[in-house]
Amino acid sequence: MKYKRHTVTAALPYANGPVHIGHLAGCYLPADIYVRYLRAKGEDVKFICGSDEHGVPITIKAKKEGITPQQVVDKYHKIMGDAFNGFGISFDIYSRTSSKTHHETASEFFKTLYDKGVFEEEITEQYFDEKANQFLADRYITGTCPKCGNENAYGDQCESCGSTLNATDLINPKSSLSGEKPVLKKTKNWFLPLDKMQPQIEAYIDSHSEWKSNVFGQCKSWLNSGLQPRAMTRDLDWGVKVPVEGAEGKVLYVWFDAPIGYISATKDLTPDWKLYWKDKETKLVHFIGKDNIVFHCIIFPAMLMAEGSYILPENVPANEFLNLEGDKISTSRNWAVWLHEYLLDFKDKQDVLRYTLCANAPETKDNDFTWKDFQAKNNNELVAILGNFVNRTLVLTHKYYEGNVPQAAEYSKSDILLLEEISKFPAKIASSIENYRFREALAELMNLARAGNKYLADNEPWKLINTDAERVKTVMNIALQICANLTIVMEPFLPFTATKLRTMLNFKTDYKWTDAERTDLLSSGHKINTAALLFEKVEDEQIVNQVNKLANSKMENELANNKTEIPGSKPEITFDDFSKMDIRVGTILEAERVPKTDKLLKLKIDTGIDVRTVVSGIALHYKPEEIIGMQVSILVNLAPRMLKGIESRGMILCSENEKGELSFVSPTKPNANNGSLIK
Ligand code: MF3
Ligand code: ZN
Repeated sequence: MKYKRHTVTAALPYANGPVHIGHLAGCYLPADIYVRYLRAKGEDVKFICGSDEHGVPITIKAKKEGITPQQVVDKYHKIMGDAFNGFGISFDIYSRTSSKTHHETASEFFKTLYDKGVFEEEITEQYFDEKANQFLADRYITGTCPKCGNENAYGDQCESCGSTLNATDLINPKSSLSGEKPVLKKTKNWFLPLDKMQPQIEAYIDSHSEWKSNVFGQCKSWLNSGLQPRAMTRDLDWGVKVPVEGAEGKVLYVWFDAPIGYISATKDLTPDWKLYWKDKETKLVHFIGKDNIVFHCIIFPAMLMAEGSYILPENVPANEFLNLEGDKISTSRNWAVWLHEYLLDFKDKQDVLRYTLCANAPETKDNDFTWKDFQAKNNNELVAILGNFVNRTLVLTHKYYEGNVPQAAEYSKSDILLLEEISKFPAKIASSIENYRFREALAELMNLARAGNKYLADNEPWKLINTDAERVKTVMNIALQICANLTIVMEPFLPFTATKLRTMLNFKTDYKWTDAERTDLLSSGHKINTAALLFEKVEDEQIVNQVNKLANSKMENELANNKTEIPGSKPEITFDDFSKMDIRVGTILEAERVPKTDKLLKLKIDTGIDVRTVVSGIALHYKPEEIIGMQVSILVNLAPRMLKGIESRGMILCSENEKGELSFVSPTKPNANNGSLIK
């Protein structure tokens, strides 16, 4: 079927943290490549995304940071939007689910299903925190895992053994809001009867056996174990209010409202939004990560079917996960390469990451990102193949022809073969992209650059110029044509580089994808601009810095995990906390009793930096005359305080045993002099 237009969505990321390379590789980059390609073909396409601003993770983050959920989402909506923008992810709109349009749209959608009698009302028992006076989302309940005995399992999952749990399965459940034991309380919620809809859903999935096997397989396995009714409302106060009577204090389930976010974002984008969501000649494609498959392939289509007036997703090309240096990417463990940090560390190298992530995209299985590989991909592929070909061509054009495209004379046999080969690339790359095989498409793009490189190496224009200058004109003309073709087919993958190369070639931007089948895009006599390097080497030092950054977060994690409380000790502090104290060796110069007190001595101390007065509560343990000349430890940056009318500046360190007896903490070697730092 030929479609008239395309709606392409990329999963709405939760606005509870910044985005990392896993997000980019899993969904946003492939979606962007796909959309840029469609645009280059002249297709009518809308690329939709935005922040997913509801759900429990947001409220948990807010609690942790001591701010409101709205403040959390405002903060991360901006950080995420800027990062996507920084990498050239070319959404037509980046919206958010806290918007008015979204609340209205989601609310209306629910109401439509409600009025059609789609939902089943059901009263269930949910955990309730009596102290906090609210129902508890599964994530807010911890307890002992019935399967493995881990004492910190969550109400929905045990992270220790990986089991999926129900909150009521937990042994000794505890509310993370109050720490109290929650009680079961009856509550009414509205369920989508997926069980009854199973035949319809099954027919839909079965009509899409062309989907990627990881996606199709996961759907089939859900269907095979039998779909269960799923609650579409929750007892929570952050989200879209349930728009029916008797639903006070309830919001829409985040997985009900979020995908509707695609629709509301389209509404915000264009008054023609219905064309993009309700017209059968629109192709709807969702780009997501594998953890979202069931929601996009089963639950959202079921909602759309039940509503009745929408088209269904035509494809859901989900990727697997990207790991980092052999370990699962984790926000909470800070095991990630954050996009906003990359943009600072590698200015103007957005395409290098786009390239590496696409070349390594976890399309069919989980994949690993390593900094070494990043460096190798840049230095051995982008610099050595693509950059080198373009650079040699442009530099020679300036050298031999003052930057004017030379006229080709007669083509040789091998020229003709090459030109034929070149004109096939756009169709090959297109077919890979249309089948969501972006790694393969990128490899083909590089093959075009390789073909160019080989052509130069075979013909050696730098030697030929001395014997057959006429022939060099043809060679250089062909090499320049390849550069022009490259700008068109590289644009979806490497948009920043494509722009750079276009500027160098002084090449118009309004060429379509299929123009790259031509081999005469640059007319002879056309003047090109000055040449600059397309890519620069990534040095070892830059890689070492990144690897160190990761090593640091690993170490911090290990420290955080080993924070076993030592019985009887004060709570742990950081080294920074400790080093705020300025403790030095000093010598007691004078000592006398403070009148009308039992405990206090007034001391004059040489701290090495000054001589100062300290009032110390040691009179029951030391006689004034016996301590003159003694070395002690003194905290010198303690705020001064008045004791019995005397300003005391500092504190002498003493040990105190269980009987309350004091003893100076003094150096044990004569090399400690006044002012020596204690650390
Ligand atoms: N916020 C979800 C996640 O990050 C994805 C939501 S996709 C949508 O996993 F369709 F629901 F919007
Ligand atoms: Zn467990």
